[in-house]
Amino acid sequence: MKNAPSLRSVAITGTGKYVPERILTNEDLRQMVDTSDEWITTRTGIKKRRIAAANEATSDLASAAARQALENADVAAADLDLIVVGTVTPDMAFPATACFVQKELGATKATCFDVSGACSGFLYGLEIARGYIASGMAEKALVIGADKLSGIIDWTDRNTCVLFGDGAGAAVLEAAKDGGGEVVSTYSGSDGSLDEILNVPAGGSRCPLTSENVDSKLNTMKMAGREVYRHAVTTMVSAAKEAITRAGLTPKDIACFIPHQANLRIIETIAHKLDMPMERFFVNLTEYGNTSAAAVAIALDEAQRSGRIKRGDYILMVVFGGGLTWASSVIRW
Ligand code: COA
Repeated sequence: MKNAPSLRSVAITGTGKYVPERILTNEDLRQMVDTSDEWITTRTGIKKRRIAAANEATSDLASAAARQALENADVAAADLDLIVVGTVTPDMAFPATACFVQKELGATKATCFDVSGACSGFLYGLEIARGYIASGMAEKALVIGADKLSGIIDWTDRNTCVLFGDGAGAAVLEAAKDGGGEVVSTYSGSDGSLDEILNVPAGGSRCPLTSENVDSKLNTMKMAGREVYRHAVTTMVSAAKEAITRAGLTPKDIACFIPHQANLRIIETIAHKLDMPMERFFVNLTEYGNTSAAAVAIALDEAQRSGRIKRGDYILMVVFGGGLTWASSVIRW
């Protein structure tokens, strides 16, 4: 995707997050599958993840994160023109999860739709909302990354079940006023020829849900771990460089890198390839695992609320997901 023409500058004016209460530790997983805290920690860095309650839908996670973001931005839900939810675990095939969020928040004048970009869904949504606001089609937008991956995990498959968790992160976007939070650059891309290395085979029109498919667990996530790992590194390094170049910067200008929270070893390799110290990278996957579209949005919220990023800092978000998809964005905080 080309960089948006600078019709008018767009800013993130508030962020929020929600993670479910229930914590699933590596020790808990050891009792479910043939694994160990040592294996999970050394191969991924993950210690815990959050699991949504049976009666918590993706839109519930999304709405809780959205409320925080709206409060942080001091924006009323009724003033939103656009709600975009990045998710691969929608409440239903339709209506869009964004419509459920609209109902929950009372955002009556917003146009609402979902983006299916897997783990890249939040940054895809950010790029879309930026375009709407930059062009004047919208004044105030809410972008959410939310996933309840626990519902599409095969809890008997140790290759995947240790990696993921549930959560939601949100950001409010408006035309920039004083420069704070300005979206300086965005970049995104996809490679549909790599669909088979990370997907959920059944449940759509290609392979409908039947009792046989469910018995074969085709409605759960399938992943070729090593291949995904390799592509995650190469695409996130090139996407990071592209957003930084589009911003007219070099990696050393970035005060805080907020990468997709999939695996600590992937993040360390990216840091090495960008020749940047790990201290510049924000990492919270230890606590939450990989929360898909929510991951960078939760990390952005935590980075700003903890004071890890300060007004004027350049920050870089970069993500990668099934599709394949990837995206990146530089923000001047
Ligand atoms: N506990 C214990 N052993 C496990 C295990 C677990 N939870 N999961 C896999 N193993 C085993 C494998 O079966 C394999 O055993 P074998 O050698 O007897 O066949 C062994 O550990 C090594 O597997 P390997 O695939 O080489 O491990 P790895 O170092 O590549 O790490 C991942 C596996 C999944 C952690 C890693 O490939 C990864 O993070 N990939 C990217 C995943 C990702 O980011 N997905 C989401 C993208 S948005």
